[in-house]
Amino acid sequence: RAILARRQDAAGLRIAVSAGGTREPIDPVRFLGNRSSGRQGAAIAIAAADRGAEVTAVLAHVDESVRSALEGHPGIRVRVAGTAAELAAEMREVAPGVDVVIMAAAVADYRVASVSESKLTKEAAGGVPPTLELVENEDILAGLAADRRPGQTVVGFAAETPAEGETLLERGVRKRRRKGVDLLAVNAVGWSEGFEQADNALTIIDAQDQVAASVTGSKREVADALIDAILAVRS
Ligand code: CTP
Ligand code: CA
Repeated sequence: RAILARRQDAAGLRIAVSAGGTREPIDPVRFLGNRSSGRQGAAIAIAAADRGAEVTAVLAHVDESVRSALEGHPGIRVRVAGTAAELAAEMREVAPGVDVVIMAAAVADYRVASVSESKLTKEAAGGVPPTLELVENEDILAGLAADRRPGQTVVGFAAETPAEGETLLERGVRKRRRKGVDLLAVNAVGWSEGFEQADNALTIIDAQDQVAASVTGSKREVADALIDAILAVRS
């Protein structure tokens, strides 16, 4: 492939990247989910592998085309996780063996406190709409950052909706500090931005709270810019 011949600047680098949206079960047929397609995470995995990295992609729920693209790539090993807890376990297993950890997955913040073994029915509810009790999931990224080994680079993502009285950048800086990561990639989302779109706009914040890069383009272009930023902080 032309790309392989052109640029192998990530050769020798071992990268783990999570992608897609976790699904938290309510009962055997229902779950709490989110709109992540996994395409940005997949683009990162593919960009890294095309540039010579040895990539492990840990997939929560992703679009079928995303899964097949990753599984068909010779430089990518695919692992799967359904829930946030499963994703946490997979990442913990993979992280000690890599140089770079990238959490691009959309992880559910909460799971259902007690999952019903049988399908919830309206009949059993007796006309009273049920209330779901939620419990918080562990912060996988913060845990990976806290436990990172010397020389390991930990990268997070943040999808933010514009908030009153605070810029996206200010929120990103706070989140990067809270997570303790080396790089945080922030993108603006809304009802029509960020999800299910071919193009993406990303601002990458580094450990000095500076903007390392700001890029708009295809998910592949954005992925390449993130790889560039990772290689830069590691050099
Ligand atoms: N993340 C994670 N584990 C969680 C939640 C989030 O590892 N339980 C990771 C995501 O994969 C992402 C980063 O943390 O890389 C930021 O996710 P985000 O949802 O923006 O952060 P939260 O801390 O959950 O904050 P918010 O209240 O804004 O959702
Ligand atoms: Ca969250």
